[in-house]
Amino acid sequence: MAERIPREFIHQLLNRIEIIDLIDSRVPLKKKSGNNYFACCPFHTEKSASFSVSQSKQFYHCFGCGAHGNAIDFLMQFDHMEFRDAIETLAKQIGMEIPHESRALEKPAASPSLYDLLEKISKFYQVQLRETSRAIEYLKNRGLSGQIAKDFSLGFAPPGWDHVLQQFGKNSLLKQQLLEAGMLIKKEDGGHYDRFRDRIMFPIQDRRGRIIGFGGRILDKGEPKYLNSPETPLFQKGHELYGLYQALKANRQLKQVLIVEGYMDVIALFQNDITYAVATLGTATTAFHLQRLFRYTSEIIFCFDGDQAGRTAAWRALLVTLPVMTDGVQIRFMFLPDGEDPDTLVRKIGKDAFEKQLANALTIADFFFHNLATQTDLQSTDGRARYVKLATEHLNQLPDGIFKKMMFEELAKKTRMKVEQLNAPKPSPSQPQRTMRTTRSPSALRLATSLLVQQPELAQFLTEPLPKIDIKGFDFLLQLLTVIQQNPGMTTASLKEFWRDQPEEQLIVKLAQIEHMIPEKGIKNEFLGAIQRLKKIANEQVIERLLNQAAQQGLSQEEKLQLNELINNKES
Ligand code: UTP
Ligand code: MN
Repeated sequence: MAERIPREFIHQLLNRIEIIDLIDSRVPLKKKSGNNYFACCPFHTEKSASFSVSQSKQFYHCFGCGAHGNAIDFLMQFDHMEFRDAIETLAKQIGMEIPHESRALEKPAASPSLYDLLEKISKFYQVQLRETSRAIEYLKNRGLSGQIAKDFSLGFAPPGWDHVLQQFGKNSLLKQQLLEAGMLIKKEDGGHYDRFRDRIMFPIQDRRGRIIGFGGRILDKGEPKYLNSPETPLFQKGHELYGLYQALKANRQLKQVLIVEGYMDVIALFQNDITYAVATLGTATTAFHLQRLFRYTSEIIFCFDGDQAGRTAAWRALLVTLPVMTDGVQIRFMFLPDGEDPDTLVRKIGKDAFEKQLANALTIADFFFHNLATQTDLQSTDGRARYVKLATEHLNQLPDGIFKKMMFEELAKKTRMKVEQLNAPKPSPSQPQRTMRTTRSPSALRLATSLLVQQPELAQFLTEPLPKIDIKGFDFLLQLLTVIQQNPGMTTASLKEFWRDQPEEQLIVKLAQIEHMIPEKGIKNEFLGAIQRLKKIANEQVIERLLNQAAQQGLSQEEKLQLNELINNKES
């Protein structure tokens, strides 16, 4: 895995990048009010400009679709970059160099030369393919064009035990690298031989197009039909998706992504102008796969055989999907006619008919309730109880939100029960910020915290540490202050960055978006006023504690004085 980028560096990077310029170069912005800029949102289709970028917060937000984030998020969403790529791109833009953080505690990073090595081997396989008519014939017979073979860099590993070993393993260091890249197999006597022999070679590329492994198909009958690279420092099966690189290259925006089973399915679909299919690599789909895909698209369609094995695999995929079904994403299931796979089907019926079937794919709700009904007998009371129990257990895997609520309502309707009887989540998705809920003056805490998130420089006006207060969300305010004080130059954008992928991140986003309608001049006073009210709450809590103690076990002389003083202060 890649080395970690020091947090301090990211902080400085965000301070030096101007988000207005970054976004303006891709989505022309208009200045509208104060230091806010507007445009039509690049993340959804709209006619009026609800996409706003704030210069002071270094933050963008769309009032229409809710897209939001800092400069790093923008590149991740707009240019489909991953976190590290986004940082590299920004750093390059302003000439900063990413420093290396101590590697001591981390897994050794894959050496860049492993990528080079695999690239060279792939070129070698491609040359071999051009020179082997038997292999070319095989691909032609399967209907592949020369162009598609090139798009996917297909190659051929010649028969024989040591072509790769001879060509690329001339000394022991090189041999070691070949081994590390999964290209050799070790013999018992300590020698080595080529893993891939006499096979059509499918390079597996990561989303940036770098080759990280191979799949090799036997030309005739034989076992195993496909041989894949083992897990290596470059290649983790549970993370990678075959064809994602090509799909991203061919589509500016991916409206949907189709998940299929095989290399040849991806390629045949692509050749028939369905350029948005990917395949898992001999493993079931993982939550990691899905989360990665949802970065590029909001709809995933699984493609499975129509037989019993296909249905079982689809149900398993559905269970993996539930926890990542946040609002706004869609999953559907397409079942193929008996005996077909996407490769054979698309060749038979062509793009349009295939896409028509795709459009009819089952929604997750349909597949869920239908499949569950086949697992239980809905005629009997017992069966119905079991149905409810199973459904509830599964649906509770869903993240809270509107989709979860709708699924529970559907279950209630199907079983003629009330939602409350199904131990559904409390049906109120628009509950107020839980962190800020308290009986006393939530508004002061909320105001102080959100102003601080929006203008971290306000922290400098606090001349003394805040007293401890026992209300929900107060700890977060303290934490926020500490982070701001320890990292000079914090902006809203860098606060969000500080908590990336942690629960606090969403809190920052929400607080950043609260509209206070306070004129710029008045902000400092509003902030200090809120802090003043918080201090008052702290005092009242101490008074209450002391009064309680007085009633139960009495107070020391010192405590009595303190109590008196607090009560007098309170009245003044
Ligand atoms: P399939 O057996 O369905 O083959 O394997 P396919 O994709 O239709 O292949 P063709 O059309 O006969 O060439 C689907 C996927 O499962 C993995 C491969 O990733 C393959 O693409 N697989 C299959 C293996 O890893 N090893 C095998 O021996 C077979
Ligand atoms: Mn096939």
